[in-house]
Amino acid sequence: MKHVTNNIYYVGVNDHQLDLFEGQYIVPNGMAYNSYVIMDDKIAILDTIEVNFKEEWLNNLKEVLKDRKPDYLIVQHMEPDHSANIMEFLKVYPDTIVVSNAQAFKMMYQFFHQEIPNKLVVNNGDKLDLGGRELTFMFAPMVHWPEVMMTYDANSKVLFSADGFGKLGLRSKKILFRYRW
Ligand SMILES: [Fe+2]
Repeated sequence: MKHVTNNIYYVGVNDHQLDLFEGQYIVPNGMAYNSYVIMDDKIAILDTIEVNFKEEWLNNLKEVLKDRKPDYLIVQHMEPDHSANIMEFLKVYPDTIVVSNAQAFKMMYQFFHQEIPNKLVVNNGDKLDLGGRELTFMFAPMVHWPEVMMTYDANSKVLFSADGFGKLGLRSKKILFRYRW
């Protein structure tokens, strides 16, 4: 867990056991499964990481949240290394609103065979107000699957880029990309 900038926290987990990512890519230094928390008037979490690291990820979340409850879970990509813990997360934080696009919600039902109880369906360019900042969702179909979307925090000038700009490896896959201008 670490503070990145402007009340954005990294809560991802590093996998040191993995030898082949997706059974084919050599990752001698392991793999990073990235997830972030934005602590504002409202709290948003981005992505839910690989299934085997549920406990470590939920502990990281709790360390950041302390006594607060998350308002939104933003699902940017449905590949399981981003999304496997959505239902496990909702068991712990059942009042959280899941934010994603229609294509991703369709996939969520196919993956988990359950409806998401509280959901907010967004379209390309839609915004979400967290109080001190506004997030903008930008669809990026086929980077890497058709449902992928990215999230831009204009206040912090941070782009949460899902699989975009990433590479395989530790602390490098699915990077958080920060624009400065
Ligand atoms: Fe992916």
